[in-house]
Amino acid sequence: MPDTHPASPSGAPKHVPELGEIQETLLIPLYARALETRKRHGMLSDPKAVEMVESLDYDFSRFDGARSLVGSNLRTLLFDHWVRAFLQEHPGGTVVELGTGLNTRFERLDTGHVHWFDLDLPDVTALRRRYFTDTDRRRTLALSVTDPAWTDAVRESPGPYFLAAEAVLIYLPEDQVRDVFRMIAARLPGARLALETASSHMIDGQDRHDVLSKVAARMVWRCDDPAAPAAWHPSVTLEDTRTFARLPAEVRRAVPQPTRALLSLLARVRRADIEAYRFNVYGFGDRTG
Ligand SMILES: C[S@@+](CC[C@H](N)C(=O)[O-])C[C@H]1O[C@@H](n2cnc3c(N)ncnc32)[C@H](O)[C@@H]1O
Repeated sequence: MPDTHPASPSGAPKHVPELGEIQETLLIPLYARALETRKRHGMLSDPKAVEMVESLDYDFSRFDGARSLVGSNLRTLLFDHWVRAFLQEHPGGTVVELGTGLNTRFERLDTGHVHWFDLDLPDVTALRRRYFTDTDRRRTLALSVTDPAWTDAVRESPGPYFLAAEAVLIYLPEDQVRDVFRMIAARLPGARLALETASSHMIDGQDRHDVLSKVAARMVWRCDDPAAPAAWHPSVTLEDTRTFARLPAEVRRAVPQPTRALLSLLARVRRADIEAYRFNVYGFGDRTG
């Protein structure tokens, strides 16, 4: 009953998110962005994330104090950096957020010309529709990333294509990730795909992870070598690979000094942890499309 739920700051009853186990993980980056926005000198500003967190009846406090929330925001800034670079080259191209959750990248990066798709599973897109409205240039797709139907919708949109799968494919088994790569190679030649990879070291330690240990979902895809997907299809190449210790200058500049110092320290003392989690951009051959 709505009136049994606590009220949000606007006075409206809070909404209980009804999400599957993997889908629930979208609340982690959402909360990370909201917390960062509330800081005086945060690395990003996302008032919509604050609004969404305040409107949801969910115990976000379980994530309080977790260092991974900082990592989540750094990852978001890196993916923003890659999408921004793509849009500088192709302001009227198409960006696809695969497993978008309650992501607000369009709000941060819209060029006024870009075509944009936000894809996620139906329970997530139903939640998303409470906060976001489709337009001529921005559409929601209620589909699994494994379903080729999304590539049909994207192919109708102007190329080239940049696909961002931030914190998504790590939750799928490797054979499904491989099928997604092959589907993109066959159906969206010339596209670029950004995603992160988690090594065996990270997968094996996830029950002790400061935020994942607070939810039911677990990462599944083990990838000890981010170049490995290049063997899955002849058109696939690894174009860029990063760790938190090697972020582009534009991203580092946005990060407050204490966090930057912490990252340099971690890179020295916990090298295995830093190397375990990599952020990668893959190319799919000819980019004229
Ligand atoms: C950790 S959240 C990341 C959300 C968003 N990318 C962000 O960074 O804020 C993982 C997201 O992947 C989505 N996801 C998981 N499996 C999926 C699938 N097979 N197809 C589409 N989305 C999926 C979940 O529903 C969830 O929204």
